[in-house]
Amino acid sequence: MELAIFGGKPLFDSARHRKWPIVTEDDRRAVMRVLERGVLSGSDAPEARALQEEFAQAHGARHALLTHSGTSALQLSLAALGIGEGDEVIVPAYSFVATPLSVLLQGAVPIFVDVSPESGLMDPHAIEAVISPRTKAIMPVHVHGCPCDLEEIQAIAKRHGLLLIEDAAQAHLATYRGRFVGTFGHGGAFSLQSSKNLSAGEGGIYLTNDSDALERANQVRNFGQDIRRSDGEHYRIERPLDGHRSLLSLGIGSMYRGNEMMAAFARSQLRRLPDLTNGVRSKAARLSEALKALPGVFPPALPKDRSPVFHKYRVRLDPQLAGLDLSHRELRDAVIAALRAEGCEVVLWQSEPLPHHPLFQKMVGFGKGFPFFQKDASQSDGERIQENYRANYPGVRSLLDGSIVLFSQSCPLIAQDDEVVELYIQAFYKVWEQRHRLVDLVKKGGAPQEQ
Ligand SMILES: Cc1ncc(COP(=O)(O)O)c(C=O)c1O
Repeated sequence: MELAIFGGKPLFDSARHRKWPIVTEDDRRAVMRVLERGVLSGSDAPEARALQEEFAQAHGARHALLTHSGTSALQLSLAALGIGEGDEVIVPAYSFVATPLSVLLQGAVPIFVDVSPESGLMDPHAIEAVISPRTKAIMPVHVHGCPCDLEEIQAIAKRHGLLLIEDAAQAHLATYRGRFVGTFGHGGAFSLQSSKNLSAGEGGIYLTNDSDALERANQVRNFGQDIRRSDGEHYRIERPLDGHRSLLSLGIGSMYRGNEMMAAFARSQLRRLPDLTNGVRSKAARLSEALKALPGVFPPALPKDRSPVFHKYRVRLDPQLAGLDLSHRELRDAVIAALRAEGCEVVLWQSEPLPHHPLFQKMVGFGKGFPFFQKDASQSDGERIQENYRANYPGVRSLLDGSIVLFSQSCPLIAQDDEVVELYIQAFYKVWEQRHRLVDLVKKGGAPQEQ
């Protein structure tokens, strides 16, 4: 069968994809319940409190706080530990930009380490080389929903007296040695943005076992006000906005609360999350089983001691093993074009190591260089930071040049039915059987280059 990219019939209509999140009658009823109740917001409002309890319980943690985004949950987890000006936080060079941004927003400096080119996870062996006297914390990211090498990272943190904060934005219900991620460190942050396995449209959850950290995070979440959670005991639902907490701000804070509609929607979805998680795991297993038989195609690595949740499904491609005279990038872009023509959704998701974003290359910060350049920092600190941002990150480069993400933010794997998964396998096989033709496509300049 002729490949669709050369004018053949596409294998399927891309309208066959299902968009995420899938909204059910239960979800609608949950949101309607809020509107009918008429209590739409508040840190002690019933849906927010219930979501916090249910989410914490589902992850085996003591406390959770609802925020308006994963980024704010990350920032709270830093603020709760007193991380700010003068501090450095070690983050992976492959993640979403929100990871290092949360550090900058706290007035601290992110320092990057490379990742494994196979998994995209922070390389624990790279961490110690970037620890400085200013380092306060390590923030690994369970990227794609795959848990990091937590034992190694925890051991390094302990050895150097550093705090551990987990960016679990993509990893709801993922486990490492049977325990849920987000509970290994001094704090963890999840995102409830629309593409995530647990969605509230937008939103985030801060998770911790530390009651004092929880109080501090809650204060920052509410304009820096003294807002002990015990205030909830005096909460009157008929007067939801008329609390009796002091409106005096004790320190810097912001307004990072969620609202009742998002909390109710997320609660309704949380009930289905264990089943959906099992579902996405079995779809990933089916895909991986089929794709690994193709020469030069490597489905996501599956470390034995972890249960990923496949928020993203990244496939590596090796031109040499596929027997093709193409560079990794050429093969990547040609395969993306060929699979899209067959009806598949395929994305790069990221195209550069995070430190190579203009944000880190220009170091303008809030305008005059802060927090990159700090008052008490020596010249060598500044040079060290610049060097860190200008370094090559061969692990990230190799990952990004040599792999593609199947499915998309709007239509992720978790939303798709088994038939669509089979169509992806057929599309991949169809393209792979005729992969030598991709060489012609590239040589004639017919494969658009991805940015
Ligand atoms: C790894 C990672 N960290 C942080 C975030 C930030 O989450 P949000 O978009 O909810 O602020 C995201 C999601 O976009 C993410 O993928």
